[in-house]
Amino acid sequence: MKFDNVLAERKNKVIYRDGDLAVKVFDESFPKSDILNEALNQARVEETGLNIPKIEEVTKIDGKWAIISTFVEGKTLQQLMDENPDKLDEYLELFVNVQMEILSKKCPLLKRLQDKMQSKISSTDLDATTRYELHTRLASMKRHDKVCHGDFNPSNIIITPDGTPFILDWSHATQGNGAADAARTYLLFCLKGEKELAEKYLKLFCEKTDTARQYVNAWMPIVAASQSVKGNPEEREFLLNWANVCDWQ
Ligand SMILES: Nc1ncnc2c1ncn2[C@@H]1O[C@H](COP(=O)(O)OP(=O)(O)O)[C@@H](O)[C@H]1O
Ligand SMILES: [Mg+2]
Repeated sequence: MKFDNVLAERKNKVIYRDGDLAVKVFDESFPKSDILNEALNQARVEETGLNIPKIEEVTKIDGKWAIISTFVEGKTLQQLMDENPDKLDEYLELFVNVQMEILSKKCPLLKRLQDKMQSKISSTDLDATTRYELHTRLASMKRHDKVCHGDFNPSNIIITPDGTPFILDWSHATQGNGAADAARTYLLFCLKGEKELAEKYLKLFCEKTDTARQYVNAWMPIVAASQSVKGNPEEREFLLNWANVCDWQ
């Protein structure tokens, strides 16, 4: 296999381009079940008809697990936002449109968001009283079955030269309440230090989907707590602070 270039390098994985293919190679430390789950999620979401890279192969390269998908030509929405700050409003509009398109889909075999969050809350470092509060709150939230990306941020969208958006990175996909997905995106912007953009995003999401801001806010502590489980130490502290704020109404 000849790798033309490295598309992205992370702590425990590298994404290469190999001609028409994108090859995501995971370190030995990465749980096999997570890798296979990511590939299965991606294969399932492919069936919804959303524009996403197609799974071509799941294999081992030099002893490491790899997911091979079609390569999507273009720039990530993150790159475009960085390069053209004057077009931020236009890009944000596109960003929310893509999220709404995802949320319009059903994929009955994806894991349920409610179940995933339930077990994540149990694995946090939060005290029993806070966990109880979060579990109770989660149980009271409306159960939906919309496809939720789970890591919806501008680096997971590629815009092709003809302007078509493709959505990448389905490792956290679930089916559930779209407001939880919006809360996650809001927190992802905040974690990058982009509070202003986070606010702007959420305002637009609420307007376009006719969702009350309070409804998304009610998810914040739950989503923050569940996101804290795998985060690095600084992120964890930030998220656990949010998770402790149980009066997010
Ligand atoms: N199929 C693909 N086509 C083109 N670029 C890709 C593809 N898959 C990943 N990339 C590039 O690699 C980056 C990281 O890939 P991603 O699947 O989002 O991994 P991670 O889980 O590490 O965020 C993306 O932001 C994008 O720039
Ligand atoms: Mg990504």
